Amino acid sequence: MNATSFLKRIWEDPNTTITLGLFILGTLFVFFSFFILQKDKPYITSRESLYTTPLIIGCIFIFISIMFAIKLLPKMDSKKDKKENICATLAREFPTLDKDTIKCIFHSCNHDVPLKDHIHVYELISINGIVDKDGTYYGMYERSGHIAPNKTSDGLVIHVAASSAGISFGDLHVIAIDLLAKEKLLIEVLEDTYRCKIFKIFFQTPKLSNEPFHIRFMFKWERAMNPFQDFDGITAKDFSYLPKEMHATLQLPGEAVLYEGITISNDGKQISRLKMDRNIDTKKGRFIYKVGLREISPNSTHLLIVYKIDKSSKLLSLRDMIEISQVSESDLNNVYIVEKSIEGNYAATREILYDRMKMFPEGFLVAKLCDMVVGYVETCIWNVQDFTTFEEIKNFPSLFDPKGKYLYIISLCVAEPFRRKGVASKLLESVINLARQKNISEIHLVSKKEIVTLYEKYGFEYVKDLPNFFPGFHGIFMKKRLISI
Ligand SMILES: CC(C)(COP(=O)(O)OP(=O)(O)OC[C@H]1O[C@@H](n2cnc3c(N)ncnc32)[C@H](O)[C@@H]1OP(=O)(O)O)[C@@H](O)C(=O)NCCC(=O)NCCS
Repeated sequence: MNATSFLKRIWEDPNTTITLGLFILGTLFVFFSFFILQKDKPYITSRESLYTTPLIIGCIFIFISIMFAIKLLPKMDSKKDKKENICATLAREFPTLDKDTIKCIFHSCNHDVPLKDHIHVYELISINGIVDKDGTYYGMYERSGHIAPNKTSDGLVIHVAASSAGISFGDLHVIAIDLLAKEKLLIEVLEDTYRCKIFKIFFQTPKLSNEPFHIRFMFKWERAMNPFQDFDGITAKDFSYLPKEMHATLQLPGEAVLYEGITISNDGKQISRLKMDRNIDTKKGRFIYKVGLREISPNSTHLLIVYKIDKSSKLLSLRDMIEISQVSESDLNNVYIVEKSIEGNYAATREILYDRMKMFPEGFLVAKLCDMVVGYVETCIWNVQDFTTFEEIKNFPSLFDPKGKYLYIISLCVAEPFRRKGVASKLLESVINLARQKNISEIHLVSKKEIVTLYEKYGFEYVKDLPNFFPGFHGIFMKKRLISI
C-alpha cells in the first residue's frame, strides 16, 4: 500500500478531518500567543497588543471544532447502532458468512450517496458485475429514464462500494457513453477512498425537466473483492424512483456454493430475502443470476447479493471468462459503442459496421462478458498488398474477395477498462485460427507504433512504415506468414 492510499484511508471521513484540522490549528494559535507573552523574549516589543490576535483566532477555531464535534457525535452514534444492527442481523441470518464479509457489508450499507433526491426517474437499471480470480470487479452498467418534472440535472452521481479483498485496493477506471447523443462523456471523481468510489458522469448539456437520458458506463476496480466470499449490491434509497425490475447479473470466477439476495432496511434491523431468477452455468464453472426488484419492501434501502465460492474450484481469470463469437446484428450497437468510446469522431458509423458484418461475418468477431461486447476484431479477405493510406482501402466491401490470399485486420479494439487482460490476444488467436481454416497465406495489418509488441508476440513481422496512414497516425505495416505461396 503506498503513502497516498494510506493517507486516503486515514482521512476517509472529511468531516472528522475538518474538525481535527481546526482543533489542531486553534491549539497552535493559542500556543503561539503564549509564546509571544513570555517575558524572556526581549526582541518582541509591544507584547500585550500582539498576543491577543492569535489568541482570539485560536479560540474561534477551537470553538468551531467543538461545535463540529457536537454535531458529529450523534451521527457517529447512529452509525455505531446501525453497524451493530446490521452485523447482528447478518450473523444471525447467515451463520456461514465470515466476519470480514459481514464488516464489509456494513461498510457498503453505511454510505450516504450524495444524490439530490428525485432528480432522475429510472426506467431501466441494468447491472452486469464480473469478479475475476484476482478479485478485480468489472462493472457494465446502464441507466435510462427521464429527468423528474420541474427538475434539471447536469449528470448522474454513481456510487460504488467494496469490499473485503484486503488493504491493497486498486484504482478505478471508468468510461461512459451517452447512448442518445452517441458521445463519450466526461467523468469527475468526487470521492476516491479505499472502500468507496463516487464519480459523476456529466451529460453533454444539462438536461431539463422530463428530458430523457440513456447512459452506459463500464468500470474496473482492481482487487476490490474477495473472490471466494463477498457481496455485490446497490444502494436504493427510494425505490419509487427505480424501475420495477432491475436486471442484474453477477458473474463469478468459480462455482458458487452459496448465494443470497437480501435487502436491508436503513437501520439494519430488517432483512428480507429476494426471489432470484437463477441461471447457473456449471459446465464453465460460472454462476450467473438475475434479480427483479418486485418483491422489495418499500422500507428497504440496500439490496445485496451475497456469494460464496467453493474454495476447491479453480478460479477463472477475465481471459477465461471472455467468450469469442461471431458478431450478430444485435451486437452491432454494442460494437459501435466501444468503437465510439475509443475512436471518437473517427469512429466507423453503424452503417459501415453493418456493411463490414455483411461482407465477411465469419471474420467479424466479438469478445463478450455477460453478453456485453467489450472488444472486437474486424477482418477482410482480399488480394491487396500495396497501399499507403487508409483512404485508399476504406471501402472494404468493394475489395473483398472470398478467395483472396490475404486476411487483413481492419480494426482490433478493446474497451478501456478491460485492457491488458488478454482480450485482444484471445481475439487475435481466433483470427489466426480462422485464417488457417481458410487456407490464407498471410495475415496483414497496420499497427500503431506502441502496439507492435502485441502483434510480435503472435509472430507478426515488420514490413514497412506508413507515416501518413491516418491523419496524425504513423502506421507500421506488419504481416504474419501462415503458409508459403
Ligand atoms: C491495442 C489493444 C487492442 C490491446 O488490447 P488488450 O486486450 O489490452 O491487449 P492484451 O491484454 O491482449 O495484450 C497482450 C500484450 O500486448 C502488448 N500490449 C497490449 N497493449 C499494449 C499497449 N498499450 N502498449 C504496449 N504493449 C501493449 C503487451 O505485451 C501485452 O501483454 P502484457 O499485458 O502481458 O504486457 C487495446 O489497447 C485497444 O483497443 N487500443 C485502442 C485501439 C487500438 O489501438 N487498436 C490497435 C490498432 S493497431
